[in-house]
Amino acid sequence: MNFSFSEEQQMIRDMARKFADEELRKSAAERDEKEEFPKAEVKKLAELGFMGMMVPEKYNGAELDTVSYVLAMEEISRVDASVGVIMSVNNSLVTWGITEYGTEEQKEKYLKPLASGEMLGCFALSEPEAGSDATNQKTVAVRDGDHYVLNGTKNWITNGVYADVALVMATTDKTKGAKGISAFIVEKEFPGYSIGKKEKKLGIRSSDTVSIAFEDCRVPAANLIGEEGFGFKFAMKTLDGGRIGIASQALGIAQASLDASIKYSKERKAFGVYISEHQAIQFKLADMATNIQAARLLTLDAAFAKDQGKPFARQAAMAKLYASKIAVETALEAVQIHGGYGYIREYNVERYLRDSKITEIYEGTSEIQRIVIARHLLKD
Ligand code: CAA
Repeated sequence: MNFSFSEEQQMIRDMARKFADEELRKSAAERDEKEEFPKAEVKKLAELGFMGMMVPEKYNGAELDTVSYVLAMEEISRVDASVGVIMSVNNSLVTWGITEYGTEEQKEKYLKPLASGEMLGCFALSEPEAGSDATNQKTVAVRDGDHYVLNGTKNWITNGVYADVALVMATTDKTKGAKGISAFIVEKEFPGYSIGKKEKKLGIRSSDTVSIAFEDCRVPAANLIGEEGFGFKFAMKTLDGGRIGIASQALGIAQASLDASIKYSKERKAFGVYISEHQAIQFKLADMATNIQAARLLTLDAAFAKDQGKPFARQAAMAKLYASKIAVETALEAVQIHGGYGYIREYNVERYLRDSKITEIYEGTSEIQRIVIARHLLKD
């Protein structure tokens, strides 16, 4: 087993760290406060190749491996988890999905601009009554000549306001259940596509989350991904990779919480000594660091399996389940270590706590990850 990173992987991690420190740190808290989408920052991220990290170079991507993606995602999310999720959705769900399953025409038309940052993408699976129960799709797509006509509503769509295209799952044959769901590339400019109000959220407040409605929205049949009926498998396979991205985002939040706690404990005095000299604080720091390292190894294990072309759904679910859990716990401990200062906006730890919670919810709740893991255990 080799636990060392290649020179290229280290270079990507350093590049992401530099970008996060120089371009994101100064404005992350303010963007969170104002719920302001990081438009300029995402553009710069794209210039570094971070919006299409795993896309082949011939489609304007950086053609890197998943391990590099994990390293970059952790560094970006360590400073700004909102930018982390914007990057993750475009990379793991949108560009990876089209890279793996798109036609040549779809790659030319959509993948190239999505990977270069000219376009932004979103992933539209969830609905008002189809969250964890993702097969319960009410959005329908009816074939009409060389088009499909889409009707329905999608919920909780990250990047939904600024996305130029959405990957949309819709039912083409309701008699077939999961096998009657298809996936489409839908442009924001197609008539009948409309964006709902922006949600007010607990955390990751500078990323946008909206509902998207389709009213007789005509989508060219050429925009169908794979065959009719492939949509649910497409969504599940794509989400397997997405869960590695969210595990990395959770890791970044946890690491930021630990970094802040170490710094604060060496500055703050109580009972005549720095609080870092109290065992009560030392034990917290030790547990936080140990949990983070365990989550990091799980996440890299999933990324490595994916890069080797091996099955990785179980590893990805384990990584997301554990990394999201320790992100919440670590952020909570960071607030506790900061005491009253942890509860106010002056220090960033209250933002880390608010940002951490969503990692246990999106791209499959922790309960769904347990279902995925248990099914693998019982099947193998
Ligand atoms: N890869 C390939 N195929 C898969 C698969 C996978 N990972 N998981 C399921 N399938 C296939 C099954 O094999 C089955 O096909 P066959 O009948 O041919 O065998 C078909 O899909 C249906 O699967 P299930 O019978 O297992 O379906 P289910 O109803 O029991 O649901 C589930 C399974 C795991 C609970 C799934 O519904 C699920 O993952 N739910 C959570 C959805 C989710 O993660 N949503 C996140 C929204 S996106 C988001 O958050 C993005 C964002 O903006 C940040």
